Amino acid sequence: MKKPDRILIVDDEEIAVRNLSHVMTAEGYEVTTAHSGSAGLALLESRPFDLLLTDLRMEQADGMALLKACKARHPDSEVIVITGYATTETAVRAMKLGAFHYIAKPFHFDEVRKVVAEALEKQRLRRENKQLRAEIASYRGQAKFITQDPATLRMLDLARQIAPTDCNVLVTGDSGTGKELLVQFLHRHGKRHNGPLVAVNCGAFNKELFANELFGHEREAFTGAASARKGLIEAASGGTLFLDEITEMPPEMQVKLLRVIQEKEVLRLGATVPTKVDIRVVAATNRDVARAVADQILRQDLYFRLNVVTLHIAPLAQRPDDIPLLAQHLLHKFSLQMGKPVTAFTPDALECLQTYAFPGNVRELENIVERGVAISDGDTLGLAQLPPHLQSGEFSVFRRKNGRIPTLDEQERDYIRWVLDAVGGNQTLAAQALGINRSSLWRKLRSRIRDDNSSPD
Ligand SMILES: Nc1ncnc2c1ncn2[C@@H]1O[C@H](COP(=O)(O)OP(=O)(O)OP(=O)(O)O)[C@@H](O)[C@H]1O
Ligand SMILES: [Mg+2]
Repeated sequence: MKKPDRILIVDDEEIAVRNLSHVMTAEGYEVTTAHSGSAGLALLESRPFDLLLTDLRMEQADGMALLKACKARHPDSEVIVITGYATTETAVRAMKLGAFHYIAKPFHFDEVRKVVAEALEKQRLRRENKQLRAEIASYRGQAKFITQDPATLRMLDLARQIAPTDCNVLVTGDSGTGKELLVQFLHRHGKRHNGPLVAVNCGAFNKELFANELFGHEREAFTGAASARKGLIEAASGGTLFLDEITEMPPEMQVKLLRVIQEKEVLRLGATVPTKVDIRVVAATNRDVARAVADQILRQDLYFRLNVVTLHIAPLAQRPDDIPLLAQHLLHKFSLQMGKPVTAFTPDALECLQTYAFPGNVRELENIVERGVAISDGDTLGLAQLPPHLQSGEFSVFRRKNGRIPTLDEQERDYIRWVLDAVGGNQTLAAQALGINRSSLWRKLRSRIRDDNSSPD
């Protein structure tokens, strides 16, 4: 049950205190009384009240002094001032000092009841808002790595153990499994949490730009370099350098990077003297690293340097216990963000999620829940709010198509379409999820388009 609101009543007229106390207690509030300003002040010092109801004119400390003291100590408390000398001037002064309202004597108890209830309601809303804002901020800033899967919990334990050391870490896992989140976790639990976490997507630049971005340059290192500039490696000094998609890094860069890791220094473009850097390196990839090394996409010497510890995050489909846990967490997050009262999944929706394959992993689950919350108009998220391909169980191999069982070709076509959708249309990711290379995917897609155009269905 909710705790009653605590009210402090202060008046040097004994009968007034007794009457007000009686009325407020009857309303269900927890009432404390004081018969002088100084007694009131002492009580305010000793503990917080939700609301102060005080007379204005008193011997010793008056109502204004109490109002100030109350607001100074407990800015969240509401104050209502009562007085027999109602002048607009004092009213304005009290409101300026933060009083919620001003009641003139003689008053009706009904009026006091109403004003007190309004003040407490306003306070409640303000508190709720504050709490919501804090909760939303916690989702944004310091996202937690959520799991109850035994193997993943062990992985997280290892991450916690090695976080405070400076050893290099390689994070592996399929797209959307939470690699970036894990890197943030490592940084936050490390010695360097007050330093920067600088993320570099190694697939995002061409060679020339990349060298410049990573290593920086001296003044006039090349035409147009009007001033010297720090590269991202230097920017990460004192913190963590996160090399995302490490296998996409051009080979020449890999050699240079290896030097940085070994020597802990960078040579800016056009510079002759290297600059010392104090960094911890964490790399991530959603590729099969051993294969990338065998295919000479990732240099073996760099791989050995990075791979002091490998943290592997399993695909979501292999962590069935995490599906309901993450789904509930995400439901809470999105209903908060969108200000909607969706608090639970219907059992059939949850079951549907638990049997789904999630080629796009947690990111896909996130998208599914976000969409579901956005379109739901009740307090539960049901089957109807899940994407159509989940609802219909469209990919059950047992489903008939045009009155017959689907051919292998049709099945493959639908399957590819489904995986492509799940990874947001990204062909590289789809090829990875399907375990084929990009060019075979491309060939299959081309023949699919041909088939789609020639067959009417
Ligand atoms: N265990 C988890 N707990 C809470 N949120 C998670 C978890 N795993 C992933 N997420 C969320 O899922 C989304 C995708 O995660 P993230 O970006 O870290 O994946 P990734 O492995 O880096 O993907 P990619 O390979 O595509 O870069 C993020 O919004 C992340 O916060
Ligand atoms: Mg990532």
